[in-house]
Amino acid sequence: MTSPRTTLSLVDTDPAELAVDAIVIGVHSQTAEQESGSPAGALLLASGAESIAAAFDGKLTETLALLGATGGPGEVIKLATLGTVTAPVVAAVGLGPEPSGAAPAPETLRRAAGAAVRALAGAARVALALPLPDDADAPAALRAVTEGALLGGYRFAGYKTKPQPARRAPVAEVLVAVPDAADATAQAEVTRAQAVAGAVLTSRDWVNTAPNELRPPSFAEAVATAAREAGLGVEVLDEAALAAGGYGGILAVGQGSEAPPRLVKLTYTPEGGGNGKRVALVGKGITFDTGGISIKPAQGMWEMKSDMAGAAAVGAAMLAVAALKPSVAVTGYLPMAENMPSGTSYRPGDVITMYSGKRVEVLNTDAEGRMILADAIARACEDGADYLFETSTLTGGQVIALGKRIAGVMGTPELCERVRAAGDATGEPAWPMPLPDDVRKGMDSDVADISQVNAGMDRAGHMLQGGVFLREFVTDEVAWAHIDIAGPGYHSGEATGYWTKGGTGVPVRTLLHLVDDVAANG
Ligand code: BES
Ligand code: MN
Ligand code: ZN
Repeated sequence: MTSPRTTLSLVDTDPAELAVDAIVIGVHSQTAEQESGSPAGALLLASGAESIAAAFDGKLTETLALLGATGGPGEVIKLATLGTVTAPVVAAVGLGPEPSGAAPAPETLRRAAGAAVRALAGAARVALALPLPDDADAPAALRAVTEGALLGGYRFAGYKTKPQPARRAPVAEVLVAVPDAADATAQAEVTRAQAVAGAVLTSRDWVNTAPNELRPPSFAEAVATAAREAGLGVEVLDEAALAAGGYGGILAVGQGSEAPPRLVKLTYTPEGGGNGKRVALVGKGITFDTGGISIKPAQGMWEMKSDMAGAAAVGAAMLAVAALKPSVAVTGYLPMAENMPSGTSYRPGDVITMYSGKRVEVLNTDAEGRMILADAIARACEDGADYLFETSTLTGGQVIALGKRIAGVMGTPELCERVRAAGDATGEPAWPMPLPDDVRKGMDSDVADISQVNAGMDRAGHMLQGGVFLREFVTDEVAWAHIDIAGPGYHSGEATGYWTKGGTGVPVRTLLHLVDDVAANG
């Protein structure tokens, strides 16, 4: 199901004269030392708002303060302009304390743009006059504002049978005020933001789709259709092809469902061979995770429709790669299965011969992600990857260790550091975690090459067990990173910043940043 998309362009007209339904400005909260005791209270207008402030005869901060504005992050205060400026509404979005010297951090701008566009739902056309630096940081700031605006404009189409008059439609068109709208660097950022945000929203749509509508065959079809349209190479392995190829892990998990498993491979080939490096992206595509025979409790099980968030991110990132044409080869691998309990399910105690030839003893059918990922990783290594980034809603342990915002990263230390830096740059934080020997030792199996989880089902180092298991399927010459997004892949709370309820699209922007990083730096 596809949601409507917000469109975006640049303007360099005076914001006070823009014919839009609302104009967004930034406000900072003043720190204690800055407070002058003036009636404007603790508010400080951000740059970009000068001409609007002038039209209000110096009364803008005071009026906003009277309306309760504090400048706190995420706050949006709307004000009728009564003819002072062309737009009928000014919306002041909080940016937090004014940063010393420089402009606000990109993530502050990204969240503010998202919060403002969300708060202005119902308006057709909105302009953003936010503080943008006019130096080397300008592209990063513009990238943040454009991404934030497009992501905050998302709303999942949903399944209501009747129109909902009380639900205001998302903003259709956003204009971003910049010093020079014709500037080539600025224009390039808009083009990039459209491709990147489009990919994030596509992945949100896939995650938010009801799991009865998105089972492995239909998910594979949806990804394959979009990928063909984008000009990517597409190969879909169905259950017969998986059996012929010996994909034991994917088949074991998929065998309990009437909807058979798939492995989708998407290929982007750069013109002239690019820089000679090959990137593989692998994403977990469990379209629904009941736990299988080791069934999960009912409470919260519905959220396991998001257990394909990794595959959604990889598939969507590949669509953006096709549009952005980086100078590096990128291949996406999306193993897909539905983890169901039935008379044909795999069971605890089963020994599975994986695609790599290794034998795995199953102890808990709910540790299904690593089974399908192991096969996809082995295939990606066989195809000849230099760098392998894998992402998955793999373990509840990730949420316990790092919470709902910060992904866990395990793998080749140098690559983990690049993932951390990419997460830092994109506002999708990720933190490196170790792969300890004792955790691996705990996964020694009495009968097979390795147990799927700790042999006594001890949950110590739960997230790390996932990483340690997957490492067994990466060949020595491949640098790899496993990105566990069990928390950040899905947002069950109320919308905040540019995050809407449901699928977040994490880590699409990290993956695209990493592709650019490898294209530029090898
Ligand atoms: N899909 C889950 C992990 C998950 C949990 C994702 C919460 C998002 C939110 C995964 O397949 C799973 O069930 N993991 C088990 C592993 C255990 C059986 C070894 C877990 O986390 O308990
Ligand atoms: Mn599971
Ligand atoms: Zn799962």
